[in-house]
Amino acid sequence: MKKQSFTFSNSSTDLYFSANISHLKEIIDLKNSIFITDENVYNAHSKKFKKNKVIILKPGEAYKNQATVDSIVQQLLEMEADRKTFLVGVGGGVITDITGYVASIYMRGIKFGFVPTTLLALVDASIGGKNGIDVGVYKNIVGITRQPSFILQDLNFLKTLPEAEWKNGFAEIIKHACIKDLAMFKQLQQHSLLFYMSHKKETDLLIQRNARIKIKVVQQDEFEQGERKLLNFGHTLGHALENQYKLMHGQAVALGMTYASQIAAGLTGFRKSADIVQTLELYGLPTCMKFDKEKVFDVLKMDKKRERKDINFILLERIGKGLIISIPLDELQQIINSLL
Ligand SMILES: NC(=O)c1ccc[n+]([C@@H]2O[C@H](COP(=O)([O-])OP(=O)(O)OC[C@H]3O[C@@H](n4cnc5c(N)ncnc54)[C@H](O)[C@@H]3O)[C@@H](O)[C@H]2O)c1
Ligand SMILES: [Zn+2]
Repeated sequence: MKKQSFTFSNSSTDLYFSANISHLKEIIDLKNSIFITDENVYNAHSKKFKKNKVIILKPGEAYKNQATVDSIVQQLLEMEADRKTFLVGVGGGVITDITGYVASIYMRGIKFGFVPTTLLALVDASIGGKNGIDVGVYKNIVGITRQPSFILQDLNFLKTLPEAEWKNGFAEIIKHACIKDLAMFKQLQQHSLLFYMSHKKETDLLIQRNARIKIKVVQQDEFEQGERKLLNFGHTLGHALENQYKLMHGQAVALGMTYASQIAAGLTGFRKSADIVQTLELYGLPTCMKFDKEKVFDVLKMDKKRERKDINFILLERIGKGLIISIPLDELQQIINSLL
């Protein structure tokens, strides 16, 4: 296990790399802690929870809502949780988002930490302090920015992670490579999904590298004034496609990155779209889809990142260097219509 502390504007988070969930007893007082997880994680790893108090949620994005928050608060009251209680979210991004949110509002805020169990949560969702829930179709529309006290990475959980969830995680990893890390992009080009699924050491190093990329971006811009927007690469169009076509998040982001790199060709002279397509395919992600441009543009217009008549769009100058540009909506509409 390797511990490293990272400081943010008004707090710090301890990251435990290459760790095991059994190390938690050295980090928190387990008698005063309550775990939150979902049925899939609990059923596959019940032994890891030992005799600790656990709140088990139904799995999936559909439960990342206020009704679940209410039921968690009810259970916390029944368990006599107080200001000294520590909440530990053990699960994917749905669990880390909701645990961080409940911990931030229960008794006006108690401490919390995460044990991320999906690749996506390890490299992305558990990091950065954005905690929240969905309201109807509006994803993450209610929430708060507050950093966890710790994030403990235990890769043993990944043994039961379905392949489709690995792909989701790789979409974010490829995103990090595109906006920040050319050397990592080259490394990804030399391997594949199956390589990482079966090589624990290399996966551990890759996860650590990605966690550091996200942490650094968040440290520079915790409240998303600029730099942090880079993490939305592939997500603006991606979200619009995800909404319309019920895709998995990783698939939508992969398509979003492909289209964004094509758009970049016209606007920044970016020339490596083919490399991005090839790499996404190595990780089982889609790179082309017929879609209704008008409908997708309608969703895009409503994107919460829209600022008046312009939309912040993330493009690449080159692989490893993302940039934020503001595109007038009508211009973006023309660009989307001209996409293949
Ligand atoms: N806060 C942030 O900055 C941030 C960033 C990215 C994504 N997110 C959020 O994260 C969520 C997506 O995260 P996710 O992809 O981890 O989704 P998830 O939590 O729904 O997990 C995906 C599926 O895998 C199952 N699962 C989790 N760990 C497992 C394991 N070890 N073995 C077997 N099954 C396992 C879950 O039960 C679920 O069915 C979204 O709600 C998204 O909004 C938040
Ligand atoms: Zn994402």
